[in-house]
Amino acid sequence: MRVIPCADRPLHARIEDIDLSRPLSDEAFREIESALARHGVLSFPQQRLTPAEQKAFAERFGRLETNIANRYHEPGYPEMMILSNIRVDGEPIGFEDAGQSWHTDLSYATTMGYTTMLYAVEVPHRDGRPLGATEFASTAAAYDALPDEMKQRLKGMTVMHDFDKFWELMRAEKGSSRPPLTEAQRKARPPTSHPIFLKHPVSGRTVLYVNPGYSVRINELPADESDRVLSSLFAHQVQPQFVYRHAWSVGDVLIWDNLATIHNAVSDYRADERRLLKRCQTLTTRFDLTVG
Ligand code: SIN
Repeated sequence: MRVIPCADRPLHARIEDIDLSRPLSDEAFREIESALARHGVLSFPQQRLTPAEQKAFAERFGRLETNIANRYHEPGYPEMMILSNIRVDGEPIGFEDAGQSWHTDLSYATTMGYTTMLYAVEVPHRDGRPLGATEFASTAAAYDALPDEMKQRLKGMTVMHDFDKFWELMRAEKGSSRPPLTEAQRKARPPTSHPIFLKHPVSGRTVLYVNPGYSVRINELPADESDRVLSSLFAHQVQPQFVYRHAWSVGDVLIWDNLATIHNAVSDYRADERRLLKRCQTLTTRFDLTVG
């Protein structure tokens, strides 16, 4: 396999000369995981995967998660969520608005998310250009660029994350078909807190673990000060120099590290411009996460 880093960004490498439908040796997997820790986002172009092959590759990274709002999944694979704007007989076949604002997968969970993997089956195009890109921002580059005074001030603090924040953000969008979360779904995902700075378990780098989608409060600060600091951190972390934008091609497999990145699904395509991606998510259960 060949690892080709993105020349001008702190994120993303393309991995070529590998067929993900075949079983991976432990050595090849270690090479991929170490590239993921260095680059945060890996793309594998021109793959052809059955659901079983995608699941087998995804679960090399850790225990697979089944989303609590899992209305749409691959038949027979509850851990494989369908993201799509396609409707059959008027009914959606997948989540139409998943991830359409900056966030980190599973920051709201007691066990944080590790990798997310998407496999592109259909990609919308207009005038020959791909639409529906996914953007990523590096949480390690964002931490490094914080003023020292801010690093010292926030060191040791914790941030509360709430699943309901992002759900309601999406529900407020025009045309959203999301129902409010049920009481049982709320209870299954109560708000949870994590350190504001984490040491990445593979790269060893310190990351800024906040995101606009789920982070609601810096617990150690008064509410108004917490709001001000969080807003400035949200603005800081999506500055163009920290961002990589992935323009999709059919057959792309993309893996990102949710400790090392935040991401945003760009919703610039219409309902008749078909997008279909299959998604698997792993948890950080393999790691003992420590404060950065
Ligand atoms: C997600 O946030 O998991 C969805 C990303 C995308 O559809 O581009």
